[in-house]
Amino acid sequence: MEKLDQIKEEALQQIKQAGALEKLNDVRVNFLGKKGELTAVLKSMKDVAPEDRPKVGQMVNQAREEIENALENAKKSMEREIREAKLKAEVIDVTLPSKKNNVGHRHPNFIALEEIERIFVGMGYEVVEGPEIEYDYYNFEALNIPADHPAKDEQDTFYINKDILLRTQTSSCQVHEMEKGKMPIRMLAPGRVFRSDEVDATHSPSFHQVEGMVIDKDITFSDLKGTLAEFAKEMFGEDTKVKFRPHHFPFTEPSAEMDVSCFKCGGKGCRFCKGEGWIEILGCGMVHPKVLKMSGIDPEKYTGFAFGVGLERIALLKYEIDDMRLLYENDTRFLKQF
Ligand code: DAH
Repeated sequence: MEKLDQIKEEALQQIKQAGALEKLNDVRVNFLGKKGELTAVLKSMKDVAPEDRPKVGQMVNQAREEIENALENAKKSMEREIREAKLKAEVIDVTLPSKKNNVGHRHPNFIALEEIERIFVGMGYEVVEGPEIEYDYYNFEALNIPADHPAKDEQDTFYINKDILLRTQTSSCQVHEMEKGKMPIRMLAPGRVFRSDEVDATHSPSFHQVEGMVIDKDITFSDLKGTLAEFAKEMFGEDTKVKFRPHHFPFTEPSAEMDVSCFKCGGKGCRFCKGEGWIEILGCGMVHPKVLKMSGIDPEKYTGFAFGVGLERIALLKYEIDDMRLLYENDTRFLKQF
């Protein structure tokens, strides 16, 4: 009995001092294992008087149980301590700002284009595209701008060779549409154009235009006026007035430039419209009979109008941006305002 108590005390003592999970396991092996001290006591039962054996057996089992419980408790509390220490070490600072996920969005040019497309598609126009690398024929010749025409100087560009160039205007798309020979035509052709212009607040060697063209029977200048006045209202507000000034484009006759009343001051004159009350936004006109004829359309049967808008110009006006270069720099601090 004394031996048993001693073993038990010894075991409990060692458990108390174990301090680590592996040590606890050593204690288990030393006392309860096959060659453990308590097991040795069980093995020596044969030396105990038969009548005392049940009692001794019971005591051994009790000692075993106590040691096992102590081991289990010690294990649990050690595990708890380890877990708590780990949680403390891994503490999450919920006040720390999270990493921002930067979501991109549409460029102001593109927002303006979608708006223009929405308006014209609503009037039954089809959006088409033409090539950026173009034949001189489509860019100039077929638009009634022959080789020696002064308008060619105004639109100097980048030549690939004598016959192929980077298009200076989306008007070339008019010719491609007319050549398809499908009447009537109601097209909108947005795209990039190129000119050998120096970069400044209002110029860039590469910018965008949106070309429009309608060809059908009995199309008149009043169709042009009505259509573009409606466009101006939808784009810049219900109260927008339009004004057509005579102009010259080789591919239209008569030709005009269209101004809209300043949507900032309503036409009184302000810094935005440079005191004019009006802002120029596009070129337009009735398609020249020669242009129709060159593309195989009978000018006696069909008439039409066309217009060309500078996309950047619309975006700059609509979003009150005062320097075109901002549109190309891709500075997200600027872009994310729109
Ligand atoms: N292509 C002309 C330019 O780049 C703009 C233009 C004027 C287009 C009159 C047209 C038009 O379709 O009828 O300056």
